[in-house]
Amino acid sequence: MNDSVSKTLTVSFVVCLVCSLLVSFAAVSLRDAQNLNKLNDQRIKILKTAAIYNPEESVESQFTKLTPKFVDFSNGLLLDEYEELDLTTYDPVYFSKQANFSSPIPSDLDIAIVKNKENIGKIFLLKDDNDELEKIILPIRGYGLWGTLFGYIAIDKDLNTIRGLEFYEHKETPGLGAEVDNPKWKALWNGKKIYKDGEIEIAVIKGKVDPSNTMADYQVDGLSGATLTSRGVTNMLAFWFSESGYQETLKNINYDS
Ligand SMILES: Cc1cc2nc3c(=O)[nH]c(=O)nc-3n(C[C@H](O)[C@H](O)[C@H](O)COP(=O)(O)O)c2cc1C
Repeated sequence: MNDSVSKTLTVSFVVCLVCSLLVSFAAVSLRDAQNLNKLNDQRIKILKTAAIYNPEESVESQFTKLTPKFVDFSNGLLLDEYEELDLTTYDPVYFSKQANFSSPIPSDLDIAIVKNKENIGKIFLLKDDNDELEKIILPIRGYGLWGTLFGYIAIDKDLNTIRGLEFYEHKETPGLGAEVDNPKWKALWNGKKIYKDGEIEIAVIKGKVDPSNTMADYQVDGLSGATLTSRGVTNMLAFWFSESGYQETLKNINYDS
């Protein structure tokens, strides 16, 4: 009998099995391609942050213009080698989740809700044709409203002027918090200053920056209807430019480069 319960169940089981095998096969066989695409996308964001991205040219060759360096967060030193880690493929976000390679951030210092910080970071230096330092590109991350925003910030060789800001992953709402990706908003960051008399002053404010305000150089227009995301960006910068982040490293760049 073709409509017996056992036959119906057998056919359903076989269909399910075949479909699950197909899905598993697709997931496994496409994993490498997906990882490669993700890496490529991240590299494009880094190049865009450095303002040297050219869509006509291969990402790989453009990426050679940047010099990666390890950052030892325990002393702020820039390193070319660290134990068995591979500088080319090292992903600080991945290592921030590995217990042996990261440290929990004390809650009173964790203003950006980063939770765990990698012990070894990775930054990029952009040098000009005379091998002089031009910009530094630093990975940053911090909590917005719906989740962590992951991105990069470029700062000038003066170690105080922002040259670019890009996010490669976030969960903010399109039209509200996701306006962090709006080119007009991103353009507002170029030329903004971070530290004033040694204090971190850069902030996304509520509303529009008044150019006549003495702090205008340290302020960026708020994202309308997204005060919490805006605050998240401010907190993330306050964290990564503090002693918990890159402050020591920037002092070393000052002396080394
Ligand atoms: C569906 C929905 C999505 C929202 N997404 C965001 C968001 O991505 N970022 C954000 O800061 N606020 C978001 N908000 C608004 C916040 O809940 C909150 O009202 C807002 O941040 C207050 O900012 P305002 O003073 O600029 O209105 C969202 C609200 C709703 C109802």
